[in-house]
Amino acid sequence: MRKNKNKRQPAKRKAASQTQNSKRPCSDSPKRTENPQLTPFEIFFKEIEKFSKLHMKDRDRVQEILQSMQKAGSKTLQVISDFDMTLTRFEYNGKRCPTCHNILERSDAISSDCKKKLQELLDKYYPIEIDSTLSVEEKLPLMVEWWTKAHELLVNQKIKKAGLAKAVKDSEAKLRDGYQYFFDHLNEHSIPLLIFSAGIGDILEEVIRQTEVFHPNVKVISNYMDFDESGVLKAFKGELIHIYNKKEGALLNTGHFQELRTRTNVLLLGDSLGDLNMADGVQDMENILKIGFLNDKVSKKHARSYAH
Ligand code: TMP
Ligand code: MG
Repeated sequence: MRKNKNKRQPAKRKAASQTQNSKRPCSDSPKRTENPQLTPFEIFFKEIEKFSKLHMKDRDRVQEILQSMQKAGSKTLQVISDFDMTLTRFEYNGKRCPTCHNILERSDAISSDCKKKLQELLDKYYPIEIDSTLSVEEKLPLMVEWWTKAHELLVNQKIKKAGLAKAVKDSEAKLRDGYQYFFDHLNEHSIPLLIFSAGIGDILEEVIRQTEVFHPNVKVISNYMDFDESGVLKAFKGELIHIYNKKEGALLNTGHFQELRTRTNVLLLGDSLGDLNMADGVQDMENILKIGFLNDKVSKKHARSYAH
């Protein structure tokens, strides 16, 4: 995997990330800072409004949620995030970055014939995934078809567990800008981060392991590979997770949400409409702030579903 630039020198990286982020509001208590006229929230909103591509349907509501979350403190917060194209970059230098599936597809663990077939599936189903004229009900059976066919092809490739680290290392996968601060800061404050992905858990874990952000506060719910005793892929474990059944996936993991029942404030990050259901298992929810990364051919409807 071509690591993000600042990953190559750990000591310098830390210093750089601290400098870059020194202005970000990270304290639990609201204090007036540099400008005595502005509260940290006002400074925060001024900062984020510099990014013209940020849409908030109801700025006051967002501020209300953030204020309420801040008042409750970091002990009441949990973060739930999608992986592909949410924690990872959609493009870099004008080139699309790979999803977990793409990392495998492009690796030498897969034959050229299988690569061709997986590409054909992508060409057929990806336009359906992002087609805003189709309803979730219309897309759902087609997404199941895509995932099922792709996983069947992968299982037939007799992929070796031992080759996964190399596939990730050789890939162009990239976490989003600011990932270091995001992962480290959540860990420093013991805030649980649930990564909920319809990608491939083994690949996802390898990406965050190789970027050194697989901290103890991170839990992953995803499609995990099942290897035989000689380390060869024989199936995928458990219920299939695709982009439109994250609600069911969340409800299957009630144990996780039960453990976190005192964390009633949720920050949810996603890039697909299906990601909006990732927090459906959260108990006694008080506040949820949903942030959507709008990557490709985005409809107004899609944007509205995330904005407050
Ligand atoms: P996510 O839930 O972490 O976003 O992962 C799902 C993404 O995986 C979804 O956007 C489509 C992508 N995908 C591929 O790139 N290739 C495939 O073969 C399949 C089944 C999914
Ligand atoms: Mg995604």
